[in-house]
Amino acid sequence: MSKELAHSAQKKQPVILGIESSCDETAAAVIFGRKILSDVISSSASVQALYGGVVPEIASRAHLDAIDKVVAAAISDAGISADKIDAVAVTYGAGLLGALLVGVSFAKAFAYALQKPLIGVNHIRGHLAAAYLADETLTPPFITLLASGGHTAILYAQSETEFTYLGGTKDDAAGEAFDKVARVLGLPYPGGPNIQKCAAEGRANIPLPQMFKGGGGYDFSYSGLKTAVINYCHTKQQKGETFAKADVAASFQKAAVDVLVKKTVAAAKEKRVNTVTAGGGVVANDYLRQTLAAECAKNGLRLVLPEKRYCTDNAAMIASEGLICYRHGIFADLTLNAKASIPLSFVAKEEIG
Ligand code: KG4
Ligand code: ZN
Repeated sequence: MSKELAHSAQKKQPVILGIESSCDETAAAVIFGRKILSDVISSSASVQALYGGVVPEIASRAHLDAIDKVVAAAISDAGISADKIDAVAVTYGAGLLGALLVGVSFAKAFAYALQKPLIGVNHIRGHLAAAYLADETLTPPFITLLASGGHTAILYAQSETEFTYLGGTKDDAAGEAFDKVARVLGLPYPGGPNIQKCAAEGRANIPLPQMFKGGGGYDFSYSGLKTAVINYCHTKQQKGETFAKADVAASFQKAAVDVLVKKTVAAAKEKRVNTVTAGGGVVANDYLRQTLAAECAKNGLRLVLPEKRYCTDNAAMIASEGLICYRHGIFADLTLNAKASIPLSFVAKEEIG
């Protein structure tokens, strides 16, 4: 379908099918306006765990096996027939190229067969759009904390489509740091949830260096913190001393999260907004959720957090960003291609198609 045709067919409350396949989750979801009608996820994480991380070829094959069933289940769980879908939104990047291609190719064929518009979604924009599903009344401006496996940033959302980048990681992303520290502690993949589990048994009593000395602004650096944790463990091992894994996990988790919360709240105050949102896998972390909630409450800020399952990869968030694109007339055509990387600056300013 041509972009013009798609544009003229816009409805106020469309039914959007979202498809996500950027990493190890094959996911499809249907939303009606901001209401989630269905949400299906098939994950190859348990297979990937055998290898200690995501093997791209295994991910691609798993997506190929699952995609048609996952989409069919999402449509049937939504209680609709395929012809009720108003647009097909698919993650086109960033992510594993082979994995993305499965979703993009399927979505193109599906949209073409249905003669419905296609929308290419930036995965990171999807994580940010998850908050709109948590509260139907949410409207910009607000400050949003992005904390995923690949990105960590504080953004000022001035509209549904425009973000200003206030600061972000200078090296590792928050999720990446969780995953790397988990490896050092011998915890299985995926690292983040396992650090959280382990931390629950320990106390945050290990002094770790101030990560952001002189860093100022809203920038972060996780590589120093990660090195401090590695040094702590190695020094103990060299001295033949034991250490409590749970205490290391709890101390790391506290150091990694506290700075995110502090800077997010500071950004909201500086920008004089009264709403804070967050998105990305690390936002599923209970300590982060509790700390951010407490600090927002203390500062009179309204916090809109996606449910945990909509923080990690899912297709409802892709449909949610698809809805924004739909309402703004941002459609793709059948030349849409997968992109392994998209600079974060594209999150702030992006036109697709
Ligand atoms: O947002 P996401 O799907 O990744 C990207 O799109 O890049 O999130 C995955 C990241 C992983 O690094 C994972 O360890 C982390 O989110 N994560 C967590 C938790 N659940 C997932 N980190 C800390 N605590 C959690 N509960
Ligand atoms: Zn993600």
